[in-house]
Amino acid sequence: MTQKFPQGFFWGAATASFQIEGATREDGRGESIWDRFAATPGAILTGETGDPASDSYHRYREDVALLQKMNLNAYRFSIAWSRILPAGTGTVNAAGLAYYDRVVDALLEANVTPFVTLYHWDLPQALQDRGGWANRSTIDAYVNYVDVVVSKLGDRVKDWMTHNEPWCISILSNALGEHAPGLRDMKIALQVAHNVLVSHGKAVPVIRDRCPDAKVGIVLNFHPDYPATDSEADRLATRLAHAKFNLWFVDPIAGRGYPEDAWKSYGDKVPVIQAGDMEAMTAPLDFLGVNYYSRNIIHDRESSDGKIINRRNPVNMMARGWEVYPKALHELLLWLHKDYTFPALYVTENGATYDDVLWEGQVHDLARLDYIKQHIAILSDLIEAGVPMKGYFCWSLLDNFEWAMGTRDRFGLAYTDFQTQERIIKDSGHWFGRVARANACVD
Ligand code: FCB
Repeated sequence: MTQKFPQGFFWGAATASFQIEGATREDGRGESIWDRFAATPGAILTGETGDPASDSYHRYREDVALLQKMNLNAYRFSIAWSRILPAGTGTVNAAGLAYYDRVVDALLEANVTPFVTLYHWDLPQALQDRGGWANRSTIDAYVNYVDVVVSKLGDRVKDWMTHNEPWCISILSNALGEHAPGLRDMKIALQVAHNVLVSHGKAVPVIRDRCPDAKVGIVLNFHPDYPATDSEADRLATRLAHAKFNLWFVDPIAGRGYPEDAWKSYGDKVPVIQAGDMEAMTAPLDFLGVNYYSRNIIHDRESSDGKIINRRNPVNMMARGWEVYPKALHELLLWLHKDYTFPALYVTENGATYDDVLWEGQVHDLARLDYIKQHIAILSDLIEAGVPMKGYFCWSLLDNFEWAMGTRDRFGLAYTDFQTQERIIKDSGHWFGRVARANACVD
């Protein structure tokens, strides 16, 4: 069946600076928390660092060519703060800005619309040394950085995202210790989350001022939560997980403050809020970016500490043990549309990792193709139902440095041969290219 999409729908792919660029010491780039973290023994599964990743600092033209070959009309990428301001604040590094200048020009020349994420996790280490996002001065440093970037690129880039996945920036990185800076302190993590949301709110008017025709949004990662059983305990645990994972981030930016049950449950770990913070967070947005990969199944195991256990259904899993469950994307987007008033919604990340095999110059990744197809099919249903879906970005354009998993976990539409850096479009990429060209979900 062919499902048509509205004219002007964005078909894109997404990446992030630290995951693709490499060249971590070139042209004046400063150290970021991911350089420091990756250098810590045991932090990265494969023992790799951000060098060379996918070497996009040198090969961005090849990346643009990939986008063109796949007929994609949008590219979501992020800017490395420490290329622009190596110490986080102070002197601007002209060579860093010039790199993104070249990337943007190459994209526009290829008729690909740039969607820029201003912060995708690579905080300058100099700021972390002063407490990182838990220190309020990082809010001002961020707004200054945003000002510098938008003043330079705002004549050509119109679509801006302030942050990628505040849950990962805060909880995953500062309470669970899995990502940089690798801390395990919930109180710090919740202060980080708060300060990141404040920095988002303060950056929005600056972006609009420097780029009057900007469209501004934020990207949140959602984990739809489902109870393991119908028991009262599982349902309550599910509600709390939803409040902590999802509402904690979307409610404040929608002007609803933090969810009460989660606030109570965090006890004395809740963040310090200063006058004006909650208002700042509610700066009106043009869109919400939604990242979705999988769902959580919540089981309130009767352990002594009443801990919530996330379980994944082993029925249909991708390589990393994440369940393939497209129905949750449907319910998620419908809920966001009905319960909130964001003028537009994008899927800013969706994709899957499998153990790809390069065979005679091809990668037959039919499981990934199927994953993407099932999720895209949901979008056209939603559009018909009146949900303002404006675009779909597949994660990722190409295999890259997948954070703590190193290059083991491949998510690309294109295969990266990390020995030669050759890029090879996978079957899923060829198929996605046909979807983009037809502006329709083709078989
Ligand atoms: C998301 C990140 C992205 C990528 C995917 C697999 O949480 O935003 O950078 O690592 O997961």
